[in-house]
Amino acid sequence: MSNWIDFYDLRHSLIYVNARHRDVHYRTIAAGIRDYIPSPTATVIDWGCGEATSAATIADAAGHLTMVEAAPNVRGALNARYGANKKISVLTPDEAAALPEHSADLIILHSVAQYLTRQELDGMLATFHRLLKPGALLIVGDIVPPGLAAPKAALSLLKFAARNGFLFAAIRGLIRIALSDYLKLNKKVGLTHYSEADMLAILRSHGFVAARAEENIGHNQWRMTFLARPASTGR
Ligand SMILES: C[S@@+](CC[C@H](N)C(=O)[O-])C[C@H]1O[C@@H](n2cnc3c(N)ncnc32)[C@H](O)[C@@H]1O
Repeated sequence: MSNWIDFYDLRHSLIYVNARHRDVHYRTIAAGIRDYIPSPTATVIDWGCGEATSAATIADAAGHLTMVEAAPNVRGALNARYGANKKISVLTPDEAAALPEHSADLIILHSVAQYLTRQELDGMLATFHRLLKPGALLIVGDIVPPGLAAPKAALSLLKFAARNGFLFAAIRGLIRIALSDYLKLNKKVGLTHYSEADMLAILRSHGFVAARAEENIGHNQWRMTFLARPASTGR
């Protein structure tokens, strides 16, 4: 296995310690995203949405939700789950990049940037700038700052698990992931880390007015969420 998309395509069941973890995880993310939906008619894009088992609650609060996922097996699962939901479409990244300019009210990139190279992130931010309506919102969430990311992620997961009744499964899950190709891939490809100042500078360099949100979406408060809007003057 040589990249993160293959990992997510083939091992997506491994990153959640059990179905309860997966569902509580996506419920928490969906609740965080819902708070940012600007109106019941909003056009929302969740880019790198993963299995997103609570996407219907996002779509219910919006006009339309486009789920963008690079991993074909994950897309297959999304199509099976949401195929009948008229408010949801599931697209590949290329299909989503070809959506009409200035058509989105909200784009979310949550827990994805750490799996991209800087160059890939730059390409994506240029696409988002093109797709967003003037003044619309981009959320870049779960950004991993440098320094002890893995132990902090493990501790956050254990706290989240204890609060949600799956602590023992989480301990077993952490052992399982430690024995899997996740750690090998992490060593080989690594995660991309950004400090708060780095991410703000990157967003600004792509023509966004940006600020760090008070809270990260999701359960890991060592990570950061950024809120960005296309600056009226562009780049
Ligand atoms: C850690 S998961 C995050 C899922 C979800 N957003 C969440 O917060 O739980 C990262 C997801 O991003 C997807 N992904 C990675 N690169 C991508 C890209 N260039 N375009 C779309 N999806 C991508 C992966 O396949 C994986 O499903």
